[in-house]
Amino acid sequence: MLPVFAITTRGLEAVSAQEMRQLPGVTVTGMAYRRVEAACQELQPLARLRTVDDVFIQLARWQPVTHLRAELGEFAKRSADLILKPALDAIGTMRPLPPAPRFSVTANFVGRRNYTAPEIKTAIQAGLSQRHPAWVYVEDDHDADVNLRVFIEHDTALVGVRITRHPLHRRPYKTDHLPGSLKPSVAAAMLLLAEAAPGQSLVDPFCGTGTILIEAALQGLHVIGGDLQAAAARHARINAEHADCHPQLCQWDARRLPLAAASVDLAVSNLPWGRQIVVNENLKSLYHAALPEMRRVVKPGGRIVLLTGVPELVNAPEAESTEISLFGQNPHIIKIRNDR
Ligand SMILES: C[S@@+](CC[C@H](N)C(=O)[O-])C[C@H]1O[C@@H](n2cnc3c(N)ncnc32)[C@H](O)[C@@H]1O
Repeated sequence: MLPVFAITTRGLEAVSAQEMRQLPGVTVTGMAYRRVEAACQELQPLARLRTVDDVFIQLARWQPVTHLRAELGEFAKRSADLILKPALDAIGTMRPLPPAPRFSVTANFVGRRNYTAPEIKTAIQAGLSQRHPAWVYVEDDHDADVNLRVFIEHDTALVGVRITRHPLHRRPYKTDHLPGSLKPSVAAAMLLLAEAAPGQSLVDPFCGTGTILIEAALQGLHVIGGDLQAAAARHARINAEHADCHPQLCQWDARRLPLAAASVDLAVSNLPWGRQIVVNENLKSLYHAALPEMRRVVKPGGRIVLLTGVPELVNAPEAESTEISLFGQNPHIIKIRNDR
């Protein structure tokens, strides 16, 4: 069994663990801030994960890691001692790797330190280059064959090598962006929370560039979405074409959906919440009109799952709420069972 860890959005650790448990040959072994640890028989299924940002083969767990600058020298020494061959052999079963790969390094940490993330990267790069002089360090992860990741929390550093060439959260279909555009891994987590299943129908009344619709269509749901801005539906159509799916897209006002009562299984949406979105009226009255409209079109027993930075405006006492971290803010994912 190979030890692996996934990095996910803060607040979605349990959702990502749930998704990982559903994969064949994967045993979840632990959960902590922004990560899920697991053991797996083969890597291939992990590359299909939708709710995580990335998955790594675990190379080492360094302990203790202090906040002192002297730690930079330790990072260099410890990375010169890393044994990468078994991990690279396992990755080589998924995609060809050159004998002297181009490598990038990503570092991040929680809490205050007397060193910076770029300094950690430089130390790790120096250690790896010492052990593998033929390997080529590249600053831009996009150009790398392999990515080394160091994730430091408290006195522990988890060190891994990414199983996929590019980050999992970066979907190739997403070429058109608009302000407020949703991270695809968060959209996938919202679908999991909505208990979405192939064959169900889903509406996104505030679809923007269509991330939720596309993630749902790729899972085999029948999707319809719309936006007040005609431009949003155009961007959504372009992204959907790249994903080779064809959601029904409309220009509409979410306060008056042109849909019959009890006609869809799920409503999943990233509401306007004033992060980058300018709403031409009071958010409160928009929410007060849009939520009853979602309750109307969703079948009894169906689910409504919403992302918003102003959860207090969602008038649903029975809702379950999960706080996440996104773009430096702490919005909530709200799940409502439509038991009217
Ligand atoms: C947070 S964005 C959605 C982002 C989307 N999930 C994505 O990934 O691109 C909210 C969207 O709601 C739209 N919107 C605002 N008021 C609306 C209304 N009354 N009816 C429909 N859409 C509206 C905005 O134009 C914006 O595209």
